[in-house]
Amino acid sequence: MSMIIDDVQVMEPSEELLEKYADLGKTLKDRIPCLEWEFHVPWIDAIRKLKRERNAVIMAHNYQAPEIFHTVADFTGDSLALAQESAKVDADVVVLCGVHFMAESAKVLAPDRTVLIPDLGAGCSLASSITGADVRRLRAMYPGVPVVTYVNTSAEVKAESDACCTSANALQVVEAMGTDRVLFLPDKYLGAHVAKHTSVELILWEGACEVHERFTSHQVQQVRDKFKAAVVAHPECPPDVLDAADFVGSTTAMSSWLRRERPERVALITECSMADNLRVEFPEIDFVKPCNLCPHMQRITLPGIYRCLRDMSPEVHVPAEIAAGARRALERMLAVGRRDAV
Ligand code: 13P
Ligand code: SF4
Repeated sequence: MSMIIDDVQVMEPSEELLEKYADLGKTLKDRIPCLEWEFHVPWIDAIRKLKRERNAVIMAHNYQAPEIFHTVADFTGDSLALAQESAKVDADVVVLCGVHFMAESAKVLAPDRTVLIPDLGAGCSLASSITGADVRRLRAMYPGVPVVTYVNTSAEVKAESDACCTSANALQVVEAMGTDRVLFLPDKYLGAHVAKHTSVELILWEGACEVHERFTSHQVQQVRDKFKAAVVAHPECPPDVLDAADFVGSTTAMSSWLRRERPERVALITECSMADNLRVEFPEIDFVKPCNLCPHMQRITLPGIYRCLRDMSPEVHVPAEIAAGARRALERMLAVGRRDAV
């Protein structure tokens, strides 16, 4: 029997197909609440076949849903790891399961590859908070002050910048500028966090992540009081939340911290899928709320990935002049590498 979902005709899972993925299904179903495994299996199988036919790789950010992260992704990681991997990819096609700025960075760093994103509408509140014209105005206001931009920006903004950074290397990149002052754009919270750890004066922009800025220090206190949980936070959170955390770092740095510290119970103050994905690797750790969902990351689905590989669309394009400037800023960041936590 077959069904049509999201304009795609897919077979309902046969006994044979369920058997083929039984081991994977068991691991995931045991550890991830509400995973509708039988619904996912046909998409997973179809995507895996198409990937081979197209010579494609799927790169997934740590915030992708577990049914994507653990079944069809060839490479997973934080923004820095995805950029590093894009720069050396040798497949013909890259499907970026994440948000638009991540796919743009992949295209800039792998210009000869076809880069697809399952949903072009997967944006980011930080990326939409600033334009290339804003950066030009700031440069005119602060002549000679270098511009470091968080990768959560458009390629146009990156092209106006001296260097990019991610939450895994922001402090290092700022200090690599070798100046007393740096324009740090656009995340005011990441900027404030970096400023606490350096003597470089940071001039900040009013940008924020709509997901992380909703966390409060009151929630952190509740988690500690009620659950006696360790608290790990992403640096896009407000300063009082970061002050109350045991550890602050990028999404990959959070996983590394868990691997090192093995707490009995933890609250990851970040996007919800992060804890869902880590539950598979750390079944012995109790993950407690709060968490907030990123509506942009959630736009990426298995049917969307299937459709994009089938149609080889939507494809991400970056105009050549913008790509050249953005590549320079990204490569300067890649030369600095990773430090993980400020
Ligand atoms: P990481 O670089 O830490 O993966 O974060 C990306 C992001 O968008 C966080 O909201
Ligand atoms: Fe952007 Fe925040 Fe979503 Fe990350 S979690 S993609 S910073 S809106």
